[in-house]
Amino acid sequence: MVVDGEVTYLDNAATSWPKPPVVAEAMSNFLAQEAANPGRAGHRMAVAAEKMLDSVRKILTDFVGGTDLHRMVLAMNGTDALNIAFKSILRPGDHVITSMVEHNSVSRPLQAMADARFIELTRVDFSPQTGVIDPADIAKAITPRTRLIALTHASNVLGTIQPIREVGLIARERGVRFLVDAAQTIGVVPIHVVNDAIDILAFPGHKSLLGPTGTGALYVHTTIDIGELAAFREGGTGGDSGSPTQPRLMPYFLEAGTPNTVGICGLGAAVKYVTDHSPLKTLHHEQQLVQRFIDGAGELDQLTIYGPTGSDASRCRVGTVSFNLPPYSPQELGAILDDSFGIAIRPGLHCAPYAHKTLGTYPDGAVRVSPGFFSTADDIDKLLAALHQMG
Ligand code: ALA
Repeated sequence: MVVDGEVTYLDNAATSWPKPPVVAEAMSNFLAQEAANPGRAGHRMAVAAEKMLDSVRKILTDFVGGTDLHRMVLAMNGTDALNIAFKSILRPGDHVITSMVEHNSVSRPLQAMADARFIELTRVDFSPQTGVIDPADIAKAITPRTRLIALTHASNVLGTIQPIREVGLIARERGVRFLVDAAQTIGVVPIHVVNDAIDILAFPGHKSLLGPTGTGALYVHTTIDIGELAAFREGGTGGDSGSPTQPRLMPYFLEAGTPNTVGICGLGAAVKYVTDHSPLKTLHHEQQLVQRFIDGAGELDQLTIYGPTGSDASRCRVGTVSFNLPPYSPQELGAILDDSFGIAIRPGLHCAPYAHKTLGTYPDGAVRVSPGFFSTADDIDKLLAALHQMG
């Protein structure tokens, strides 16, 4: 199906669009020339596919300050990476600390493990005014059984960037593992597993890294002993085929089955593009667009912005902001913006029900605006003009 008419795309927090043309070119060339199954045979095409995968593992490892490309586990998306992490590291009786800011990709796997009485779970709240958690609350929640702190790097509802380095240092000092979900930050906010004291980093490839959907990764830092992990899924790895169980060799120990080589090839091209265009410059561009929206929206009396407001409200955010404009429900607003103005935003709970509970916007949620790399001031002005027309 081809979408009719021009679309003003402001839903980059869900997935970035468009993608740089180099991504499709790399995928197309790989498909045409070397798309054999990596590591499953010794022929030239299989070796070329394996080399491509390792080159992308290296690009991703360097991008996050990692030290060992064999600890960069390729996954289907951020949720897949998080599931691999939780289910390979947690043991019966562990206590896990997470927050109310989290996306369901963190909340649901942990809740399911808590419901099965496999783990004990504590959710630390955040301030609705600042949109961030207080690291002191995390420190207070640590018990002798706490094995993991799992925190998002930025709220997918408010865009607010969380104090991960402070939490990482607390975790390190208290001997607790620290997992960061970088779904909303990787590609724009600098992240460094060593400097930020991160043990496990999960991220998608299709958001601000500008890669294709179906890609993501998990970096298991050298602070984690591979011997303490359980295999998340078992199956073929291409090596040690005689072993009746999953060979404990990274990254294959946590990767079974044929990987999404075409997507990973596109992701490699995307990360080179993102790096060449300076992630920090992109962050500032997106923050300027968010600020333009917040400033313009201030003229609408009925409109409420969630999280920080004011003249520097975008500095603590990635390119994401949420609002409501009564008497419209978020779903009505989303439908009208799409149908009558060709503007794509995301209304509702954004798979983050606990965040909306803290904000007082549960169960209807809010309308989320998320400009991205290719968004312009004109896109924001179109949205503001539409809201003024409706308000
Ligand atoms: N995690 C994505 C979002 O926040 C899908 O919209």
